[in-house]
Amino acid sequence: MRTPLRTGVLVSGRGSNLQMFIDLAQKGELPIELVAVGSDQAGAQALARARSAGIPVRVFAPADYPSPQAREESLLTWLKERQMELLLLAGYMRILGEGFIQRAGFPILNIHPSLLPAFPGLHAQRQALAYGVKVSGCTVHFVDQGLDSGPIILQETVPVLPEDTEETLSARILTVEHRLYPEAVRLLAAGRLERSGRRVRVAERSR
Ligand code: GRF
Repeated sequence: MRTPLRTGVLVSGRGSNLQMFIDLAQKGELPIELVAVGSDQAGAQALARARSAGIPVRVFAPADYPSPQAREESLLTWLKERQMELLLLAGYMRILGEGFIQRAGFPILNIHPSLLPAFPGLHAQRQALAYGVKVSGCTVHFVDQGLDSGPIILQETVPVLPEDTEETLSARILTVEHRLYPEAVRLLAAGRLERSGRRVRVAERSR
């Protein structure tokens, strides 16, 4: 795979994962070039981070489009115009439609703050606490048309402590997210992710 990969990031909120990608790319520690940041939320803090890093930003607000399909069409056109080679979802709060995924032609990754398939969807850390699990963690996966349901690339656990709140558990998981997500991107960029159905094998480092 030719690197750096032209990479887009979709965001809806705070953007700490986006900031981690910006920092690593700037330091030359990740073989990606950030060329697009898209959002459904005009006020997302993540957009300010992208703008101050000089990355082209565009907002695709649902209210501006007649249908979700029209919105996704516009998003896909923009990404293709920018010759995307990799798309990273980082706190993007919408499900991408089947048409988008089938026609994208570039890999799409997401990070989720639980050990999937446990606790997909919103408030994963709150769900984990409510269920009473003793370990949780995060998952980097390929995106399919379902909700946090695509083939799993990497997972890492964190303990759930008796005194945990949603905030303390989220913070513990987020620290791991910021390490695990770039690791998955590195493996992808190095051509070391081999997909076979739902299973993703990490190939040995080529000599
Ligand atoms: C992260 O916990 C991520 O796993 C989830 O949404 C959160 C985004 O945080 N998908 P941030 O916007 O990257 O700070």
